[in-house]
Amino acid sequence: MLPGRKIYIETYGCQMNFSDSEIVGSLVLGSGYETTTDPGEADVVFINTCSIRDHAEQRVRQRLREFRALKKKHPGMIIGVLGCMAERLKDELLEQEPSVDMIIGPDAYRDIPALISAVGSGQKAVNVMLSLEETYADIQPVRLGSNGVSAFISIMRGCENYCAYCVVPFTRGKERSRDPDSIIREAGDLVQKGYREVTLLGQNVNSYAWNENGRTMNFAQLIARVAGIDPQLRLRFATSHPKDLSDELIGVIASTPNICRAIHLPVQSGSNRILHLMNRKYTREEYMNRIRAIREKIPDSSISTDIITGFCGETEEDHLETLSLMQWVSFDYAFMFNYSERPGTLAAKKLRDDVPDVVKSRRLEEVIHLQQKLSHESNKKDIGKVCEVLAEGRSRKSEHQLSGRNSQNKVVVFPAGDIHPGEYIRVKITRCTPATLIGEVSPE
Ligand code: 5AD
Ligand code: SF4
Repeated sequence: MLPGRKIYIETYGCQMNFSDSEIVGSLVLGSGYETTTDPGEADVVFINTCSIRDHAEQRVRQRLREFRALKKKHPGMIIGVLGCMAERLKDELLEQEPSVDMIIGPDAYRDIPALISAVGSGQKAVNVMLSLEETYADIQPVRLGSNGVSAFISIMRGCENYCAYCVVPFTRGKERSRDPDSIIREAGDLVQKGYREVTLLGQNVNSYAWNENGRTMNFAQLIARVAGIDPQLRLRFATSHPKDLSDELIGVIASTPNICRAIHLPVQSGSNRILHLMNRKYTREEYMNRIRAIREKIPDSSISTDIITGFCGETEEDHLETLSLMQWVSFDYAFMFNYSERPGTLAAKKLRDDVPDVVKSRRLEEVIHLQQKLSHESNKKDIGKVCEVLAEGRSRKSEHQLSGRNSQNKVVVFPAGDIHPGEYIRVKITRCTPATLIGEVSPE
């Protein structure tokens, strides 16, 4: 492999994928490549892909067409597809996208240097083997596109929940937890480099379980350990499955000031019938009980969620139940999606995708409309309050303004003054939009 050659990595999908791209970055740097942010000057272009909805795959296909045009100008450029689409479509993708040279699934990244060499000598290369053990525990990720303030640490891989709509168990394989010592080391290293915020990532962090030579650790214990490294280091985590959010974890968050007061708890639907069809393994009432437990122990916590509209068999009554649950919880924030059938999932095999697109979209609009109102109400309640904000960088709208997040994960914009990214400041909230809090630096 020739040193000084350049690799460009573009990432789609979830935070986990961004974290994976940083592992890939580290693996290629270790074999003599350097990364570039310009695909036009790259010898190797990687696209780390997402399969969660058809729309996500279509965006990647469009991008591959653009890369194909680039390759015409730069013959010899290698194009590799990584991640969930690579795993889902395997060598089928080589037939459909002739410009693609490499297909690499999420557990095969260590093989990348060897696969690049194989392609260099004229072959197409595929490795989509899933693993029962791979956690990339020993790889020190390079922080791609980092603001130097916040970083992701992946603590586990895979998923075995088999929600009926979801492709992830098929693209990311069995659930496995990463060695806690390597996680604690990575967090300590980030602190040394000046980072102030770490998000612990997994498909379902609440089922993190380390068990080796009689030593066991669950997620509540792990996050408490990482939070103990430095009180100035903020911790976040994503994502939690409502069936596994334990009282122990709620207790640890409540008693640990540097664990952020923001819980993302995807509900997906407010209807018990739909939750059952989705194989979510909790009821509306059980979900409400988790919310009550959070509100009781961590009253200042924000709560956000994911919602799918138009899942198989969803009736108007089911939809109204989703709206009424949203209202009851009064979510601070939500990610909202139309149901998109994914080949190979339980729903694709057993259920009919029978809600017409126009109905799905109308319901989605109603859900989005309600959430905008709830988010705005939630933000209005913060006016007059003082909150601690970690400055992250210039605001998108003005270079005289900085933007950061408060503990509740709300974006806060305030005058830059002589404040630098990475500093904690107290900000008094004076105004808001549905998406942003606006304030002034507070002497309090
Ligand atoms: N269609 C629509 N949304 C989906 N999600 C997962 N699978 C699908 C699908 N097939 C949503 C869920 C999940 C989020 C990451 O994406 O809400 O929590
Ligand atoms: Fe997309 Fe899910 Fe894969 Fe993340 S794990 S990239 S959300 S399909």
